[in-house]
Amino acid sequence: MSDSEETGLEARLAEQEAFEPPAEFVEQANVSDPSIYEEFENDWPGCWERAADLVDWETDYDEVLVDDDEPFYEWFVGGELNASYNCLDRHLDSRGDERAIRWEGEPGDTREFTYAELHREVNEFAAALRELGVEEDDVVTMYMPMIPELPIAMLACARIGAPHSVVFAGFSADALATRMNAADSQFLVTCDGYYRRGDALDHLSKADDGLAGVDHGTTTVVVDRLGDGHDLGDDHFDYDDLVADHAGAEVDPVTRDAEDMLFLMYTSGTTGEPKGVKHSTGGYLSYVSWTSHAVLDVKPDDTYWCAADIGWITGHSYIVYGPLALGTTTVMYEGTPDHPDNDRLWELVDGYDVTQLYTAPTAIRAFMKWGEEYPDRHDLSSLRLLGTVGEPINPKAWKWYYRHIGDESCPVVDTWWQTETGGMMITTLPGIGTMKPGSAGPPLPGVDARVVDADGEEVAPGEAGYLTVDRPWPGMLRTLYKNDERFIEEYWDAYSGSDEWVYFPEDGAKIDDDGYITVLGRVDDVINVSGHRLGTMEIESAVVDVEGVAEAAAVGGDHKMKGEAVYTYVILEDGYEEGEEMEAAIIGGVEEAIGPIARPEEVVFTPELPKTRSGKIMRRLLEDIANDDELGNTSTLRNPDVVDDIEAKVTGD
Ligand code: WT7
Repeated sequence: MSDSEETGLEARLAEQEAFEPPAEFVEQANVSDPSIYEEFENDWPGCWERAADLVDWETDYDEVLVDDDEPFYEWFVGGELNASYNCLDRHLDSRGDERAIRWEGEPGDTREFTYAELHREVNEFAAALRELGVEEDDVVTMYMPMIPELPIAMLACARIGAPHSVVFAGFSADALATRMNAADSQFLVTCDGYYRRGDALDHLSKADDGLAGVDHGTTTVVVDRLGDGHDLGDDHFDYDDLVADHAGAEVDPVTRDAEDMLFLMYTSGTTGEPKGVKHSTGGYLSYVSWTSHAVLDVKPDDTYWCAADIGWITGHSYIVYGPLALGTTTVMYEGTPDHPDNDRLWELVDGYDVTQLYTAPTAIRAFMKWGEEYPDRHDLSSLRLLGTVGEPINPKAWKWYYRHIGDESCPVVDTWWQTETGGMMITTLPGIGTMKPGSAGPPLPGVDARVVDADGEEVAPGEAGYLTVDRPWPGMLRTLYKNDERFIEEYWDAYSGSDEWVYFPEDGAKIDDDGYITVLGRVDDVINVSGHRLGTMEIESAVVDVEGVAEAAAVGGDHKMKGEAVYTYVILEDGYEEGEEMEAAIIGGVEEAIGPIARPEEVVFTPELPKTRSGKIMRRLLEDIANDDELGNTSTLRNPDVVDDIEAKVTGD
């Protein structure tokens, strides 16, 4: 293609605000009849049987939805099933020899599991867990990077009815301890280490440090990922030995009630305490199967790749449960996209003939910065669909993805959802909906999302408001673990009326004339760094734990690559000195308490923080300073001068 043609095309794309799904895609799409929206509307909640039909039930459910005790909704009541059976056993006859998982390590080592092989190893590890004393309903924690033993351990737990709680491997030892204590979890599955940008990272020391902070007895299993003779610890069980000891074991999948807990996932909220989001077996599995089918267009013969980490909800729903329930091949990659070079993802797409790619805007912005020469080195024509999740995507990045990765022949689904929703809620259906870059799209069929003002009244198109979900859905969280009260406070109190329960996801949004929703971002004190959620309170408490810090505020500021980054404003105690040493101590303190993803972009020392007359820190002002925006209203400030001082420090004026 000549330069002028290229420029012409770029210019056309830059202007275009709406894209139709490619005809070739529509022809083969799992869902392509627009009447589905009306069908779901006219038959609600019965429409959700469509989702439940994608799952095998041991005992059929009696009722789709029971709402006697709102907002503690129950779905597919009376139904019994097992998630591991659905992801493995039921595929054995038809797909036993087909690949379930294709894994690639960062150094280029590969492993593959057919459904039969995965079934075997899950059974063996399930038998081992039982022998170690894991009983039904015991919470098993996993602290593991992207290695096949992570989904194996999750499915082994699901098989014996033990809920799992996966802690992202990038989180710190403290974060692990907090979560194990909160869940009263007595079992841990972890590993010796993993590869990151060419280095073998030690993970076990971090796990051991975490275990030292657990306030009850624990049993730990360690996977030998590095294979370097690394000491796996005398008081730990070696994963390979356990599996070998149970070679050929078969464990009957335990019958679970639809409403029984499948897993817990801790996520950040507005307080320093992470929230234990509880997901069900029947509703969750039905919902992720349905959305994998309808939105990601997953078919058994696909090689589907969600490039997220299983340590987050995206990986649970769309690397493990959704794709495996549908019997497809799911790809897992251990490392980063820039190792050994910036084309690693494209090399994988090319080499594995990946059919769908689902990733985050933060990654897409990095690809865009690196340039199209990297994807251009590879044949990406196997791709049929692209997806994004985790944060708002700017139209420029959307179009770059559409053009340079999808070659204008793949629909792009921009999917809005949360840890709490279990699966996707707002997005176009790729075989039906016009795509508008920057806007996620209409709510999925059966999902009642709206944009309202502070009084709960729907706002006019184009106006900013708050996102609400006015009807329950099968994939919803059931409660916060051992904390029903906080569950109601956090998600239901804001907009529910006397006879009507409304879910509040704590996001701001706007809606257009076609009912397309653009999600603007969090309206609570949660920061979204590279698609990962961090609570400002968690960061602040880590900062004030550093010796010499008297007071701290953490806010999110715009960041070109990460979406948002952490900015901290710090008041020191008398006798401590501002400067690099203190800054390093603060950054180190945050990394230790939470993990490197929470690392502050900037530490600003200040004699005071802007506060309201009632003494509340005015975060909005600090955000404006971080963003270099025009400052909001300072008239209610107790100490207005401080704003100028802080601003001068940040901008260096
Ligand atoms: C928050 C949820 C869902 C898996 C990954 C994150 C933001 C998510 C989008 C999107 C705009 C988005 C929201 C949401 N978010 N997807 N497509 N467009 N914003 O899960 O850690 O629970 O974070 O991520 O602010 O509330 P999470």
